Amino acid sequence: MKINIRSSFFFTQQKVIFKNKFTKADMKNIFFFFITAIISQLTFSQNGINAIKPGEIWPDTEGNHINVHGGGILFYKGTYYWFGEKRLPLSEKDKSLYGVGCYSSQDLHVWKNEGISLRVINDTSNLLQPGCLIERPKVIYNKKTGKFVMWFHHELNGQGYNAAMTSVAVSDNITGPYKYLRSLRPDAGVWPVNFPEEYRKSSLKESDLKRGSEDWKKAVKEGLIVRRDFAGGQMSRDMTLFIDKDGKAYHIHSSEENMTLHFSELTDDYLDFTGIYYRVLPGDSNEAPALFRRKGKYYMFTSGTTGWKPNPGRVSVSEKISGKWTPLGNPCRGTDNENKVTFNSQSTNVLQVEGKKDAFIFMGDRWNPENLADSRHIWLPVEWENGNPVIRWYSFWYIEKLK
Ligand code: GAL
Repeated sequence: MKINIRSSFFFTQQKVIFKNKFTKADMKNIFFFFITAIISQLTFSQNGINAIKPGEIWPDTEGNHINVHGGGILFYKGTYYWFGEKRLPLSEKDKSLYGVGCYSSQDLHVWKNEGISLRVINDTSNLLQPGCLIERPKVIYNKKTGKFVMWFHHELNGQGYNAAMTSVAVSDNITGPYKYLRSLRPDAGVWPVNFPEEYRKSSLKESDLKRGSEDWKKAVKEGLIVRRDFAGGQMSRDMTLFIDKDGKAYHIHSSEENMTLHFSELTDDYLDFTGIYYRVLPGDSNEAPALFRRKGKYYMFTSGTTGWKPNPGRVSVSEKISGKWTPLGNPCRGTDNENKVTFNSQSTNVLQVEGKKDAFIFMGDRWNPENLADSRHIWLPVEWENGNPVIRWYSFWYIEKLK
């Protein structure tokens, strides 16, 4: 076994400790400390390679738990950049966010805190004022403009989750600072491409139906909320971004009261919507979308809609991004209890590992609503079963072993 950073830390501690005198009890404690340290070395580090340990504290280079959640990773010039919700530590009492955080890494194990890429703006006339919610931020690089573009779910100060907006920010530098451009509800005044003519004409109103009833659900599936929000723009809550192989980017979000996903095409500079959008899995109540492409097919992990509480994960497949998506069921291959809660996590992103042929990582959040900064990262390898993606629980595993 090679000595890695953690082993060196272990030996430095040893020297310091032995300068002092000990009681019998101290000696016993030290003995158990050494045994535990050696066991964890043997378990988690092979040939100097560290394991991914889903659900544990994941310290950055300064020893603090990585505080970016609901995030995504962008690979740029040999480095991975992990963006996510920077949640205030519990000691701050105020649970509002203070922005989008960023960490960088060359090997996906050791992460350096790059600080805050986008900050809330201390001005009560600004929609990005403190107390607003910034969730699930994602950053993509635009090859044509050379700019980094960030979109995030944005809720307004004091309005709970009612605003259901998305916001865009831009930067010349990957780590920021990002300039906040605007917040909006997408696709105002346009119908989805795959929206039948009869849905457009229906005169059924929300007030005619009991919210949550079977009739309401049927009506939502048949475009009730799309019609309601036609003029002002469609709701946008949990979101992600996806760049297709032709360079076209899509903003994918939970819309229609979280009942239907919308796949909205972005303009060439990725800073706006073109007005071309598709309804996906109407009425199926999906959120936390995380997409990837493999061998010509498109896959999407999602969750159901139970807030911070985990629920059974889902995965769907499509031949093309704007095509018909087919649900493949729950991707989890654990015990019934584990499958019911997606190993106690909610999807946020799928990362393709650079330099490997077929290595994808499911990234999820194990939310801790009492202390969101302490939410844990659930990274698991995407495996394949009869050509469909599945995930299994590993308390530790090695990215280096992926093919
Ligand atoms: C979840 C969503 C999270 C967060 C949470 C708040 O459904 O995926 O991003 O918005 O609700 O309750």
